[in-house]
Amino acid sequence: MLWLQLRLLQNEKVMKKYWPVLLLLCALLGLFDSGYLAYEHFQKTIPPCSANSLLGDCGTVLRSSYSVVIGIPLALIGFVHYTILSFVLLTVILLHKRSFVFLAIVMSCIGFVSSLYFVYLQLFVIHALCVYCMVSAATSTLLFLGILFYFAKERKQLTQFIIRILYVYVLKQILFLLPPERVHTNMVHFGERVGSLWLFKKLAHFLFVREDKSLSQSIAGVYFKNPIGLAAGFDYEARLTQTLDGIGFGFQTVGTITNRPYKGNPSPMLGRLPKSKSLMVNKGFKNLGATKTIDRLKGLVFPIPVGISIGKTNTPSVNTVKKSIDDIVRAFILFERSNGNHSYYELNISCPNLLTNVSFYPPQNLNRLLTAIDSLHITRPIFIKMPIEKSNKEVLSMLEVISKHSVTGVIFGNLQKDRSHPALNQSEVSKFPKGNFSGKPTFDRSNELISLTYKHYKKRLTIIGCGGVFNAHDAYEKITRGASLVQLITGMIFEGPQLVANINTELPDLLKKNGFRTITEAIGSASKKAKK
Ligand SMILES: Cc1cc2nc3c(=O)[nH]c(=O)nc-3n(C[C@H](O)[C@H](O)[C@H](O)COP(=O)(O)O)c2cc1C
Repeated sequence: MLWLQLRLLQNEKVMKKYWPVLLLLCALLGLFDSGYLAYEHFQKTIPPCSANSLLGDCGTVLRSSYSVVIGIPLALIGFVHYTILSFVLLTVILLHKRSFVFLAIVMSCIGFVSSLYFVYLQLFVIHALCVYCMVSAATSTLLFLGILFYFAKERKQLTQFIIRILYVYVLKQILFLLPPERVHTNMVHFGERVGSLWLFKKLAHFLFVREDKSLSQSIAGVYFKNPIGLAAGFDYEARLTQTLDGIGFGFQTVGTITNRPYKGNPSPMLGRLPKSKSLMVNKGFKNLGATKTIDRLKGLVFPIPVGISIGKTNTPSVNTVKKSIDDIVRAFILFERSNGNHSYYELNISCPNLLTNVSFYPPQNLNRLLTAIDSLHITRPIFIKMPIEKSNKEVLSMLEVISKHSVTGVIFGNLQKDRSHPALNQSEVSKFPKGNFSGKPTFDRSNELISLTYKHYKKRLTIIGCGGVFNAHDAYEKITRGASLVQLITGMIFEGPQLVANINTELPDLLKKNGFRTITEAIGSASKKAKK
């Protein structure tokens, strides 16, 4: 019999069908139990269990001052609770409504916490046990565990929603009053500490991080469990490589790192434009330099693929194309020799806040740089971080060069240079005489360039979409235009640390709704349709 029951529980289909019914039966048991106690209360009688009987001492408990709350018998409150919960579970079974699942989760949590308190009162304050109250406590515990485990997806969605509300309406309001650089530094240090805690990761995965096989893919030999990564610029001191899988990231880029260290451009290096949903960035490759970064990464095993973004050292002395190429090549050599566990490289040729105006946008300069990198025979995939301010024609001529070298793909793209872009609120822009802009002002042009690249180079280049991703729909749009992977920073700063988990929870639904079984099927689907 027990064997049969275990077999039934192991069978997912059977579980799916019958588990909510079991939960409903459990709620009905609570309903009858509390209903009986409420009836006895109004009859002014005590159920058959007296002191020293096997069933405990109901009289002492039910006559105590704790059995009534502001004139209402606890049994009646319990009865109303179980009645509503039974109705909610019945609605879940019949209509499969998500809002009712959320309600069931909230009610089961309230029921469980209240039961814990009542058990505590019986054990340590009243010093007597009432068997009917203990049945109710057991019922609410079973309901709490059953609902929480069975409705795992909804549990995670609800937690994501709660974290978002707390972040957007409370924490962000406070953080946005403080200097952005300081907040960034403190958050990264906090993340570094928390990330090493095993419990934090387990709890985050239980509460809000969701994994779905339909989002996994292998690209150039690297396995990505989901397509959402941290873009270059947030973890420029390589502090978060053990942390970010904990909040759901599928990969991350460290950097941009340069051959020599740079302490950053004169302040302000970072600014907030809340109305434009954007950040002003003027860091100019603030970083520890290749050697120190390599020391920090030495011996580390990464839970998700980690990439190194490499750019040219931001110093007036690296002021010619030749010196810049030598400098970049040197950084690549240092990382290659380090034998680190990083999975890929980004080559950042599009940082807009540098001290010299050496440019790799002209195809002949780009060709020289990529030829020098080819000669290193790097086996890890290399992605080129592209600008978004260039015309389609200029981008196509850069792509033509790129496609002839040992480059796996391109990232579209970097910051918005156009200060008069319609997505930018001009009163916010005027506060920052220097710098360029992330977030929403980058979204449309990044998308256009993803489509353009997919149309011309889908067989040759893997595309990573980056710029203005604030929710699952934004990520999905980049994917259907042709991006295999998606990166973000600004969305997380505006929406909260649950954003990536939330995108990964909603993406599988978007795939299913549009008739795709896996992310691979969805990549470029909108571009293919547009062609027809
Ligand atoms: C604070 C900050 C620093 C950045 N630093 C870099 C960098 O060092 N290298 C780089 O390639 N991109 C850098 N970027 C650009 C981002 O990688 C990304 O391309 C851009 O912000 C658009 O994405 P988002 O809208 O999701 O932030 C930075 C962006 C931000 C917000």
